[in-house]
Amino acid sequence: MTTTEPPLGDWTPQDLEDNGRILLSYLREHFETLRARPVTTHRPAREIHTLVDEPLPVEPQPFPDVLDQTWNDVRPHLTLWNHPRFHAYFANSSSGPAILAEMATAALNVNVMLWDAAPAAAAVETTVLGWLADMLGYPADGDAVLVDGASLATLYALAAARERLAGLQIRQHGMASAPQLRIYTSDHTHSSVDKAAITLGIGLDNVVHLPARPDGSLDPRALDEHIRQDLRAGYRPMAVVATIGTTSTGAVDPLGEIAEVCAAHGVWLHADAAYGGFWRLTDRVRGHLPDLDVADSLVANPHKVLLCPMEASALFCRHPEALSNTFRLVPEYLTTRHEDGSVDFMNYSLQLGRQFRALKLWWIIKSFGSRGIADRLTAACDMADQLRKAADNTPHWRVENAHSPFPLVCLRYAPPGLTPEQTDDLNRRIHHRINEHGRSYVSHTVLSCGYVIRVSIGNIHTRQEDIDGLWHELTTAAAEGSAA
Ligand SMILES: Cc1ncc(COP(=O)(O)O)c(C=O)c1O
Repeated sequence: MTTTEPPLGDWTPQDLEDNGRILLSYLREHFETLRARPVTTHRPAREIHTLVDEPLPVEPQPFPDVLDQTWNDVRPHLTLWNHPRFHAYFANSSSGPAILAEMATAALNVNVMLWDAAPAAAAVETTVLGWLADMLGYPADGDAVLVDGASLATLYALAAARERLAGLQIRQHGMASAPQLRIYTSDHTHSSVDKAAITLGIGLDNVVHLPARPDGSLDPRALDEHIRQDLRAGYRPMAVVATIGTTSTGAVDPLGEIAEVCAAHGVWLHADAAYGGFWRLTDRVRGHLPDLDVADSLVANPHKVLLCPMEASALFCRHPEALSNTFRLVPEYLTTRHEDGSVDFMNYSLQLGRQFRALKLWWIIKSFGSRGIADRLTAACDMADQLRKAADNTPHWRVENAHSPFPLVCLRYAPPGLTPEQTDDLNRRIHHRINEHGRSYVSHTVLSCGYVIRVSIGNIHTRQEDIDGLWHELTTAAAEGSAA
């Protein structure tokens, strides 16, 4: 009797194409019906676990069944960031070329750690980093690398800043005999700076969060004074992190003036342009941004602005070798021959094995062109202007971040006769009502005025009708909330 064993090995190329076509037809339906779908789910967490929690599958399952389960049990219970009416946090996009690039990246599965391990992929990454530097107006002749996100990029930049501190050689000797190092930010700076201080052994106590000015920006004079005070007290000022597009309100720190303070004290300046950097592509924003090339290091996130899915963040450092002198460590098994032009990206961060992240950016930038990307960013700015105008023209609505050049609108509804606490509560109810309804999805922050509703516009599918609809929802929720 002969038994037929299941074949070993991968799907055949024909299987891959057949299943790929099924997936693409699902994606087509997904995008054709996306606008009619809710942005989020309201299923309780335990129930969502129950939908997907099953014993380890021992026997093979046909791919169409796996796909069906994903579409029936997973997709409806996601918060869809790539939805035209997703306006929470920072609205971002996953565009067609990037979706296909992710598939090609996985198929090629190269590891961009050493030149020999992925030669043309390292060349594409070099080219893409040059294009991104061009978009940002930042010199491309220093160190540069693609990483997963701005949080790690900032950690790496601050590690490089620490390594450049004269006379300490912390990479070699550790922190035990180092003086107390200080990092300066505003109280609007992203928490990734604090996480970096935790990781680098600098400690949360040594991150100085200076109170932001009313427009949310870091005050260079207060910075200068605090650095002087710290020097007198025996601290060693290490770095300033300035932000181009703060998380809460899209404020812009005055980078040029901050750079002067940093230069005067020999302190490293890291610019966190995770959100704001690539908006420089559109004329509508560029004129409101400082030159970025004064910063010693810079991070900007394609996965926030450049129509690019998670994860892709670009880290630049003006000083050649500053990143590589911090992270280069080559055990014998990783030694390879070097030739003119070869780049070993493993030397620029903690990551050894690295995805071919540059491919999706290469495809996005070539497919849309920088002009096509800029036009889409301009359209987002136009829609944000319309929303601001609607709020300005409606009694009791206020735009609380009018200073921000980005399509991020912080709204507060403040009818007369309510205490600040009651107004906070009303805005919280408006926010929750929008998200419970599920047609649109927004987030919030708390400013000196109180609780505000944040509307970030930047998804590639968003149209004016989506913003008009959101405004209708906001005003309806406000009227119902006031009457309640
Ligand atoms: C200003 C700023 N910096 C850094 C980050 C962290 O980015 P990532 O999620 O890529 O680590 C964020 C996230 O929203 C941010 O708004």
